[in-house]
Amino acid sequence: MASISHLQLSLLLLLPSLTFTITLASSSWSSAKEINYNKWISWNIKNYQQRATLKGTESIVLEARGRGRGAARKVVLLDAKLRKAEMNKVSLSVSQNGSGGDFKTIGDALNSIPLPNTNRVILLIKPGVYRYDRGDSREKISIPRALPFVTFAGDANEPPTITGNDTASVAGRDGTPLGTFHSATVAVDANFFVAINVKYENTAPHEIGSIGGQGVALRISGTKAAFYNCSFYGTQDTLYDHKGLHYFNNCFFQGSVDFIFGYGRSLYENCYLNSIAKKVASLTAQKRSNASLGSGFLFKDSVVTGSGQVYLGRAWGEYSRVVFSYTFLDKVVLPQGWSDWGDQKRDSGVYYGEYKCSGPGANSTGRVPWARMLTDEEAEPFIGTHYVEGNTWLIKPF
Ligand SMILES: *[C@@H]1O[C@H](CO)[C@@H](O)[C@H](O)[C@H]1NC(C)=O
Ligand SMILES: *[C@@H]1O[C@H](CO)[C@@H](O)[C@H](O)[C@H]1NC(C)=O
Ligand SMILES: *[C@@H]1O[C@H](CO)[C@@H](O)[C@H](O)[C@H]1NC(C)=O
Ligand SMILES: *[C@@H]1O[C@H](CO)[C@@H](O)[C@H](O)[C@H]1NC(C)=O
Ligand SMILES: *[C@@H]1O[C@H](CO)[C@@H](O)[C@H](O)[C@H]1NC(C)=O
Repeated sequence: MASISHLQLSLLLLLPSLTFTITLASSSWSSAKEINYNKWISWNIKNYQQRATLKGTESIVLEARGRGRGAARKVVLLDAKLRKAEMNKVSLSVSQNGSGGDFKTIGDALNSIPLPNTNRVILLIKPGVYRYDRGDSREKISIPRALPFVTFAGDANEPPTITGNDTASVAGRDGTPLGTFHSATVAVDANFFVAINVKYENTAPHEIGSIGGQGVALRISGTKAAFYNCSFYGTQDTLYDHKGLHYFNNCFFQGSVDFIFGYGRSLYENCYLNSIAKKVASLTAQKRSNASLGSGFLFKDSVVTGSGQVYLGRAWGEYSRVVFSYTFLDKVVLPQGWSDWGDQKRDSGVYYGEYKCSGPGANSTGRVPWARMLTDEEAEPFIGTHYVEGNTWLIKPF
């Protein structure tokens, strides 16, 4: 994201109405992180026991939800290319220490797949920390458009970590700064990407107000991508939910500023957002730029907690759209709830909704007047996998 954002954020910090005390001592930082992670794990397990996972093959033919009485019922088919890809699955294994794996690096495994790819290829990634492949700090994991249907699968008990520490200001091969887009540790331009039990990191340190400190852990630009049991660690700009239809289930996100950002049309279900902001920040920066676009970030049955004081979202785009439903909002959420990024023109364009949220941060008394407390009817389009057209592409990950 543009560095102007830091400027504006610094200005925000000067507003007297936004002053507050930071309660978390920095010395307890890493232990707080551990506790949060453990909390997430146990919450996750409980959740899994309570909930059925996504429907499997029966979603191949599904009746779409009718709107209102007598609405026509529509038969929705699983995407034909996807169905074909799933019929011919291939598995490759990656083991960092070479024991029992077909490949030592994720990059080598990806490079072995003939392009263009038409079959589901499952990379079984053994436990370990996967740093930039081949010891080349510019050689990062990138899944090109011609390589759809890739699955990264880790072990639920010992997820592999894919790590990096590039930032927007680090020089790329040609000597110019990488920019936020190319800072990503993992970049996915392909469609139909799936990840299960994988931890993504960008470990670059970042102080609010520093220029070029944005460090993306994962960028997803392909459509119809699903993430289960994954975790994403960064500071500023952790997840670049760039564009396309995306589904996140049981995922953990950690960051300080705008840590989920982009134009994506995404459903985050049973997710855990952990702010490590030290001052005022925003959890999301959604960039819907035109009222006719379907893009938006929807959070359902999730948890927002952590440190600092956070807005649920700030309007990167004039028609920025974010909805939180059935989500526990801890006291880190600012009473105002939402930010127009200092541009009042956006107040009438943005769509910032809340529906049946709970917790100290869900108190709507202090909300900006343009925040929407949604009615059942208003919330309906946003609280299911139909928002991401899930019936055509969401299937059991294995
Ligand atoms: C996701 O994690 C939960 C426990 O945290 C586990 O029970 C479940 O099997 C995992 N899902 C997959 C697809 O591995
Ligand atoms: C390689 O890593 C696996 C865990 O992925 C571990 O079980 C195994 O002992 C390791 N082998 C060696 C030779 O270090
Ligand atoms: C990334 O890590 C490497 C190795 O630890 C270090 O040399 C480099 O300065 C770091 N880069 C950034 C931007 O933090
Ligand atoms: C919004 O998108 C529609 C359809 O793509 C386009 O016709 C229209 O010009 C766009 N409006 C703006 C303000 O960009
Ligand atoms: C919500 O916040 C207002 C203002 O701070 C307070 O008076 C009210 O008691 C709160 N409501 C609940 C349910 O906590």
